[in-house]
Amino acid sequence: MSPLAARAAQIEPFHVMEVVKQADALERAGRSVIHLSIGEPDFTATAPVQRAAALAIEQARTQYTPALGLPALCTRIAGWYATRYGVVVDPAAIAITAGASGALLLACAALVERDTEVLMPDPSYPCNRHFITAFEGRARLVPTGPERRFQLDAACVEQNWGATTRGVLVASPSNPTGTSIEASELAKVITAVLARNGFVISDEIYLGLSYDDIASTALAISDQVIAINSFSKYFAMTGWRLGWVVMPPALRPALERLAQNLYICASAIAQHAAMACFEPESLAIYEERRAEFRRRRDFLVPALQQLGFGVPVRPDGAFYIYADIGHFSDDSDRFVEEVLMATGVCMVPGKDFGVHSPQRFVRISYATSYERLLEAVERLQKYLLGR
Ligand SMILES: Cc1ncc(COP(=O)(O)O)c(C=O)c1O
Repeated sequence: MSPLAARAAQIEPFHVMEVVKQADALERAGRSVIHLSIGEPDFTATAPVQRAAALAIEQARTQYTPALGLPALCTRIAGWYATRYGVVVDPAAIAITAGASGALLLACAALVERDTEVLMPDPSYPCNRHFITAFEGRARLVPTGPERRFQLDAACVEQNWGATTRGVLVASPSNPTGTSIEASELAKVITAVLARNGFVISDEIYLGLSYDDIASTALAISDQVIAINSFSKYFAMTGWRLGWVVMPPALRPALERLAQNLYICASAIAQHAAMACFEPESLAIYEERRAEFRRRRDFLVPALQQLGFGVPVRPDGAFYIYADIGHFSDDSDRFVEEVLMATGVCMVPGKDFGVHSPQRFVRISYATSYERLLEAVERLQKYLLGR
């Protein structure tokens, strides 16, 4: 077997898998585990979406679609931007991809050159920096904290922009912090980057799951950004592998060639099914679920704070809380393991998300039922107060 290409060797594993393995082993041994480590909704595709998928199969609409997706689905997504965000998007600027991951793959393949830098906040979703590494670029992780809502701002973009910097990649609301960049700051970031002839990739996968009107689509600010989104989170279709990217017109031919060559097209069945996401019945269900996520957040944030977890900035979206555990420990790996063993509550240590003080933080997901969250807080209370 020949040696691995350096780019593959540089992709780090998900450390959280070790914790999840331990949690699974506990469950197999008969312990009750509450998974607060989960990165996907505890809801699934709506009935109209399931029916549309079944119909697509029945009618054998299962062959390749155009590389950038079904035009009818692009039109529905453009309609969604108009009604929900008041933003006019040309359906021809939309490409349907295999999840937000497929969109990031295309965008990074098109824009990231070897040895060039892309600025990202630390902490952030690990795969995003690995896409940059896979194309031999360098993700420059800029330390952020609660004072900047764990996001980049224009000042830090300007300070960290170097000779080889080509762009920024932001995710708002963010995984792991659930916090968003305020629209006025995002506008300044976009202006600063475009003035340097750079690119802005805005990962908006959690935008649908916003609770406080802080997050906004970068497309409301400029049509020169690359905005990435997905059917995985708000539409609860993780395993269907469907997302999209809205791109400046100049990028379309390159993305089309890349999609044709890298994976031909996104799943035809998933695309036909996703059309039903925009029916009133489905939209009403998504909004009920969003309200349920907000209810969970509104319970969990103060409950954790009362137990001694630090939540210095209130998460406004996604389903994550990035909690400071400095009150309990200076080693989040050990803390997560101890809590798991003692209580069966499974969280994610900070080290998957960055290198800037990850030992102080854990990611807690509320993509699990309200009742389980109540139980998790009870177990944590017993353990942490009795230590
Ligand atoms: C911030 C962020 N971006 C992108 C993705 C990729 O999602 P998908 O490929 O399922 O759309 C995820 C998944 O958790 C995420 O958290």
